[in-house]
Amino acid sequence: MKKPRLAIIGLGNLGRKCAEAILADPSTVLAGIVRRSGSSPAPWLKAPAVTHISELKEVDAALICVPPDAVMGIAKDLLQGRIPVVECARLHGEAFLRHKSEIHRAALFHRVPAVVGAGCDPGALSLFRSYFALLVPHGHTETSLHTGPSLHHTLAAEGVKGVRKALATELKSVEGTIQRYVYVELEPSADAAEVEYAIIHDPLFLDEQTLVFPVPSIAALEETNRGVLLERRAAAREASHASFLLEARFDEAGLAARMMLAAARSLPSLQAGAYSLLDLPPGALWGEQRTAAEKEWM
Ligand SMILES: NC(=O)c1ccc[n+]([C@@H]2O[C@H](COP(=O)([O-])OP(=O)(O)OC[C@H]3O[C@@H](n4cnc5c(N)ncnc54)[C@H](OP(=O)(O)O)[C@@H]3O)[C@@H](O)[C@H]2O)c1
Repeated sequence: MKKPRLAIIGLGNLGRKCAEAILADPSTVLAGIVRRSGSSPAPWLKAPAVTHISELKEVDAALICVPPDAVMGIAKDLLQGRIPVVECARLHGEAFLRHKSEIHRAALFHRVPAVVGAGCDPGALSLFRSYFALLVPHGHTETSLHTGPSLHHTLAAEGVKGVRKALATELKSVEGTIQRYVYVELEPSADAAEVEYAIIHDPLFLDEQTLVFPVPSIAALEETNRGVLLERRAAAREASHASFLLEARFDEAGLAARMMLAAARSLPSLQAGAYSLLDLPPGALWGEQRTAAEKEWM
């Protein structure tokens, strides 16, 4: 069986983790990376870096690792070139459904498969949340991030003028109160005091104590491990009193890369169209190793 040749679009935090995951995986080949012209060189990269996908030979699928607002245009270009795609832009709820259906239309039109939302969250954590709810249909799910980011607050802080990148974390004190730590990488012209004022007075941050810290690099901060606590408890009126708890610590981009690679394995088995992880049979994510996985995990 020929090994699938995967391309990565965008060599940021997630793109680097995808490159590492593909290079460490004997069943796939890194065809190359598509980068914007003028991006800083990556001498460690053991694969061609080009500025357009057409410069790479024999690409079986592309992993899209660019900012959320650039994903759609790039996905459509790739699908038009008949290249199956995997992406995991941080979109949830209605925004995710709209994104999926737009990619679905393009994928159907060009008769190519795509897997969307295949990262960590959305991605692996969405699968756990969904399984927990399936097993405890009447109940309550809580996701808390510890020493990790609050995605909602991160996006809000990133919307503040002068902020290039942000990372909002929340920590629970022993008394149970929440403190938010918002790390910001500033534009060179930004005024740190003005940025701090804007974040602290944003309605989203008014409910908890918020501390803002300018840092030279959010990417360096994001290298640190983070954790999540995902809990589903049956409603009080349920006789079963079932509860499920997932406590996990991981590198978010590393986990997202692993999920993207698994999603890429499923592509050859898919008809044209866009699929979320909930649409895929779990065995498809194992690709060629499906039978071995079934033997081991069933
Ligand atoms: N679902 C999840 O769990 C999860 C986890 C992590 C990330 N993500 C998603 O993955 C994507 C990448 O995240 P990241 O943290 O790796 O971001 P990042 O570190 O900012 O990297 C994005 C890369 O995309 C390229 N790029 C930047 N602006 C672009 C533009 N306007 N058009 C095309 N390419 C552009 C750049 O690479 P070059 O310089 O090489 O061109 C940049 O380094 C985002 O959509 C994010 O939401 C999802």
